[in-house]
Amino acid sequence: MSDVTKPQPWIEDDRCHVWHPYTQMLTAPPAVPIERALGVYLHTTSGRKILDGISSWWVNIHGHSHPRLNQALTKQASRMSQVIFAGFTHEPGARLAAELSRRSPGRLPRVFFSDDGSTAVEVALKLVYQYWRNRGEPGRRLFVALDHSYHGDTFGAMAAGGVEVFHQNFRDLFFEVRRARLPFRSGSGEDLGAILERDGRKVAGMIIEPMLQGAGGMIVWPAPFLRQVRELCTQHGSPLIADEVLTGFGRTGRLFACEHGPIEPDLLCVSKALTAGYLPLAATLVTEEIYSSFLSEDRAKTFFHGHSYTGNALACAVALESLAIFDEERRMSRVQAIEALFAERLKVLGTLPFVMETRNIGGVAAIELAVDSHQGYLSGLGPRLNALFLDRGILLRPLGNVLYFMPPYVITDREVHWVFDEIESVLKTVFA
Ligand SMILES: Cc1ncc(COP(=O)(O)O)c(C=O)c1O
Repeated sequence: MSDVTKPQPWIEDDRCHVWHPYTQMLTAPPAVPIERALGVYLHTTSGRKILDGISSWWVNIHGHSHPRLNQALTKQASRMSQVIFAGFTHEPGARLAAELSRRSPGRLPRVFFSDDGSTAVEVALKLVYQYWRNRGEPGRRLFVALDHSYHGDTFGAMAAGGVEVFHQNFRDLFFEVRRARLPFRSGSGEDLGAILERDGRKVAGMIIEPMLQGAGGMIVWPAPFLRQVRELCTQHGSPLIADEVLTGFGRTGRLFACEHGPIEPDLLCVSKALTAGYLPLAATLVTEEIYSSFLSEDRAKTFFHGHSYTGNALACAVALESLAIFDEERRMSRVQAIEALFAERLKVLGTLPFVMETRNIGGVAAIELAVDSHQGYLSGLGPRLNALFLDRGILLRPLGNVLYFMPPYVITDREVHWVFDEIESVLKTVFA
């Protein structure tokens, strides 16, 4: 791409000083310099525009630089940006906690704020672990998670994750996790029922990505499996953690993916689209039962966890405005329309000889490509496709041989068709 040719001193600063995430800095092409982002487009310093086909790592939903979100942010900034959240509170934080609790799937009245998806998961894991200790059952120290799952890159989240390639270097440091297999997909792990039958009394909690396992390859669940997981956890007294960091806020066609069951989790993790892609913020919602196990005259039962920016007022104000946009601009019906359009286009793509499987749910379309190598995520196909799509003005970042499209909900039908036309054309060239 030609974007890096225009001289800009900060581009050189990036090259000399920035270590980018999930990037092999030796072989990756220079980072694409973006100076503006508006609606579904990212604008480069050399005047090119790139359609944001992955919602900037799954966070953006109402489009970049949305006037209402901009206004909510500046209005809040003029009053207060950040204040300590231990012993102090503020209107955006309190109102957001109430709104999240009101809209959440089930009865989750208590909200603990943190910073990002990984910390929302860490908080959930630590909460259930301490919940059992506070109740006098310290023997419950085992976690159950699913094959192909991804919950973030901090230690607890990595231990729960089941995508070998991301976290294998740290495996020696992980706590004990029983890995259950997905009954509708090939892979590894044990039958969930068998794990809980044998070890149920030792389990502190089970964590899932309901309906859509994202980083593990955009794996879409049949809804009965979600209900089955809930039933098994209830049967064996295991708290169920729904990691809706990716699926929350409409991505699967419902406000929360648990609604597909419908099921009620005991803990719910949200982040990413919580602030519509504006600011880092996360929340872990819990039942009254879990919360009340921490209430004690004994200070040792306190949840000693917090982050400097817990409940950041700017982020909370933007999140509240984002929820208001859901109510006032009929976002969910737009996601459902996108889902129908994706299904129609995938039907045709699915007939191509190099396409192994297509999957879709809500505003997510995935195409699993047939590849010879067994390198999976590490195969060269992903970066190659990424570069070819960037040349055509589309940001798509395949997960190994799984190409997926997950745009902001404000994308038009015409733009969706254009992206699918380009996908078809690029794939036909690559697999010719
Ligand atoms: C399901 C899920 N949980 C947790 C995370 C971690 O979120 P973050 O990258 O904000 O730490 C992700 C990120 O992709 C995710 O998809």
